[in-house]
Amino acid sequence: MSAVALLPPEVANQIAAGEVVERPASVLKELVENALDAGATAVTVSIEGGGLGRIAVTDDGAGMGPDDLALSVLAHATSKIRSAEDLLGVATYGFRGEARPSIASVSKLRITTRTRGAAQGHEVLVEGGAPAVLRPAGCAEGTTVSVEDLFYNTPARRKFMRTPQTEAAACLEALVRLAVPRPDVRFAFRRDGKVVREYLRQNDPVARVREVLPDDSLAVLRGSRGRLSVLGVLGPPEKARSGATHLMLYVNGRHVRDRVLLRAVAQAYGSMLDGGRYPAGAVLVEVPPEDVDVNVHPQKTEVRFSPQGGVFEAVTSILREAAANAPWTRAAVRPATFWTDHLAGSAPVAEPPPRDVPPVPPQRLAPPAAPAVPADPWARLKPAAPAPTPYAPPPNKASPQGPAEPARPSNFGSFAVARPLAPKAPHDELGGATFAALRYVGQLKRTYLVCEGEGGMVLLDQHAAAERVTFERLRAAWASRTVAMQPLLVPERIEMTASEVALVEERAADFAALGVELAPLGPTTVAVRGVPAMLAKADPQRLARDVVAEVAKQGNDFSKAVDLVLATLACHGSVRAGDEMSVPEARALLASLDAVDFAGHCPHGRPVVFSMRWGELERKVGR
Ligand SMILES: Nc1ncnc2c1ncn2[C@@H]1O[C@H](COP(=O)(O)OP(=O)(O)OP(=O)(O)O)[C@@H](O)[C@H]1O
Ligand SMILES: [Mg+2]
Repeated sequence: MSAVALLPPEVANQIAAGEVVERPASVLKELVENALDAGATAVTVSIEGGGLGRIAVTDDGAGMGPDDLALSVLAHATSKIRSAEDLLGVATYGFRGEARPSIASVSKLRITTRTRGAAQGHEVLVEGGAPAVLRPAGCAEGTTVSVEDLFYNTPARRKFMRTPQTEAAACLEALVRLAVPRPDVRFAFRRDGKVVREYLRQNDPVARVREVLPDDSLAVLRGSRGRLSVLGVLGPPEKARSGATHLMLYVNGRHVRDRVLLRAVAQAYGSMLDGGRYPAGAVLVEVPPEDVDVNVHPQKTEVRFSPQGGVFEAVTSILREAAANAPWTRAAVRPATFWTDHLAGSAPVAEPPPRDVPPVPPQRLAPPAAPAVPADPWARLKPAAPAPTPYAPPPNKASPQGPAEPARPSNFGSFAVARPLAPKAPHDELGGATFAALRYVGQLKRTYLVCEGEGGMVLLDQHAAAERVTFERLRAAWASRTVAMQPLLVPERIEMTASEVALVEERAADFAALGVELAPLGPTTVAVRGVPAMLAKADPQRLARDVVAEVAKQGNDFSKAVDLVLATLACHGSVRAGDEMSVPEARALLASLDAVDFAGHCPHGRPVVFSMRWGELERKVGR
């Protein structure tokens, strides 16, 4: 590496300024990136007290001579770029010369370093940004940076830190994100004196991803277009999570949170994924360095592509084509034309997981806790509280806005885009009938319930309708603190991120009030011990994962998350599109809809009902 020098002010000012030190995990990221930039092949991270007490990073990289060491703690001192032009095509993690001095200003910083082959090493101490003290020191080749008492001089910032467990969990996650694209480096993570993770050197990133995310269902999706190449190590759609917390994205080895790439992954899965859900795994994109600008975010977690459109299309099509051959796609018995319709160009490959995907174990439920599960499939959704009174439509059926369905669908295909009816409106539209009074005709595509009312035809989305009913009942039970929990005979183990486990630990009582009993088992393992009795048929693992992810997304405010969590729960516990419904089940669902508010929409806001008056139908067929 070349010598350290101060950047000219005009260059320094062009560099995205901002706070780089938010919490211990951000310190860890900066220190490990520096170690990697110094050519380290082994990096050991030790944290104490969640990283607030101490974070130390030891590497076997190039080290620094005394002059470079003294300069490196000054603002805008970097060995990685010299001019503004160098900002284009940066090949190192660092380039701003900002991390060291920012960390030094809010901690007690000690650096011990020796260059390769040097007779002795040197040490520098900086406290709260005060002038550095430099002296010779005996040490191994490479560098150790130790950051003690983070935020000791900024009590306001320190107050915002979460529990040491949560901060430690965030540190481990930061290290995992850094380790994924660098299988050539060995990483160790020590927490309060104990080695809790070790990632050995591997030949390729796929092996590293499998090391950090031990999940046999991950498939390898690869491909390239010109100078752009993509490697995805991704899970099946049925294991997708709400939100993108389990999907790691990289551009030229740098972890990013990029909307364009997220959208590309979601589009590659197409209709296999519900909106807002993303597969677990990692996607590594390599583009020519001059085609990506990394200097757009103070923590360098965002990038800009040029030209952006090309990257999006290339990543989407590569992943989509490779996903067509993924073991989980082939296993899912999809219509043969679904993927082949999208095939074009060279065929990227999907490699199978190393071992067979283990069969999903049958769900093991303990004998039901009160209330007992009754035979009627809808009755089991009823809360312990008194059943709500059936909805009685207002006698006045004239709508002040005129006809509620002005849209003129040009053909059957436009059903789905017709304007949704206002809540409770279908009752008025169809002569004030209740849902229960509709004549149930049958099921279409195992997805829609077709009904005949006095005024016209009514079509319901069975999943959206069931979801609304479940949601309302859960919400009523939650409000009266009577969500009955169904214990699992054999608790299910699930892998989560370390920070999710910390969240489970902090919020166990809140989850229990929602009928979801969770208990941490290890640093990244949680046991699901019970699910809401109303949702006894849902998959406990998926349900627990999604609920935790939903709460994590809302930050610390649990009360804000409740409705969203209830909606997630309702989604799991409800009949889905594709499920066959018997006539009594369909009738029971219709009757249940009368008892809930806002029956016109599912909890996610999708319309439940589409209706067409007889007159409109007659016009369409020219009667
Ligand atoms: N572990 C290390 N081994 C060798 N040199 C290092 C190490 N850490 C830092 N340095 C030197 O100190 C300089 C300053 O580091 P600092 O992290 O402040 O800035 P940077 O990495 O250049 O840019 P950025 O602020 O974007 O991280 C680096 O440019 C590098 O020369
Ligand atoms: Mg740096």
